[in-house]
Amino acid sequence: MKNVIITGATSGIGRELAIQFSEKGYKVGLIGRRVERLVEVQKEIGNNAFIKPLDVTDIENAEGAYLELINEMGGLDIMILNAGVGRDSRKLTWGSDWQTINVNVTAFAHGMNVAFQYFLDEKKTGQIVGMSSIASTLASGRAAAYTASKHFISNYMTGFRQKANRMRVDITITDIKPGFVVSEMTENNKGMFWVASTEKAVKQMVKAIEAKKNHAYVTKRWRLIAWIAKSVPQFIWDQLTS
Ligand SMILES: NC(=O)c1ccc[n+]([C@@H]2O[C@H](COP(=O)([O-])OP(=O)(O)OC[C@H]3O[C@@H](n4cnc5c(N)ncnc54)[C@H](OP(=O)(O)O)[C@@H]3O)[C@@H](O)[C@H]2O)c1
Repeated sequence: MKNVIITGATSGIGRELAIQFSEKGYKVGLIGRRVERLVEVQKEIGNNAFIKPLDVTDIENAEGAYLELINEMGGLDIMILNAGVGRDSRKLTWGSDWQTINVNVTAFAHGMNVAFQYFLDEKKTGQIVGMSSIASTLASGRAAAYTASKHFISNYMTGFRQKANRMRVDITITDIKPGFVVSEMTENNKGMFWVASTEKAVKQMVKAIEAKKNHAYVTKRWRLIAWIAKSVPQFIWDQLTS
């Protein structure tokens, strides 16, 4: 039996990842701040679910909490760093940008370091999955902090993949780049297209994670948008996204 920890498992993509991995026979460790939601998902899954209430930005206590959960589960094979926030930042609001950076950048990087160190110390093998976004491929005046934070996630994972190669350790780094997926984060978004149900998107994510892919666009056709984002000259993109 394999063990997987998922941060941000109280709703949306993270919750569905927990359910689909448990259906495949994995032991799942669930992390999030809303305790009642953690308990609810645990009840739905049964004995193979372990919970750890945690605000991932609480860096002082987070490492201890991750390691405690790993211990309770009897080890770890896959760490999925999914917790994230996305705020509309058309207005200039440092408070909301700071929160986005704190969760999506600082807490993500911290989780990455803890998981990588654990795999190095304990097994010399493992997998770390980061939830970046198609937004990592572009900048947007409508969500400057969010798009920049997702760019950081993607780039940081590339660096860690190179680090694992250089150290000759079998630690897979999987960058999942979703397009629009139904969740609490997107429920008030306007102008979305190619919106995938949570179930469909997560099914593709689980497949990519089990196949130990380095990158996966979810759903697959978002690869086209990534290609367009790379190919369209910046001045045109600036007009479209400002
Ligand atoms: N939905 C999309 O279209 C889409 C597209 C691209 C990427 N993504 C990424 O997918 C990930 C999951 O998002 P979602 O769409 O499923 O949204 P969601 O339903 O709002 O889920 C966000 C999860 O993150 C957790 N979280 C937020 N801040 C946290 C903190 N400080 N400490 C611990 N947990 C925290 C939340 O749990 P608590 O509130 O209980 O702490 C919740 O479980 C995010 O990284 C998001 O950026 C989503």
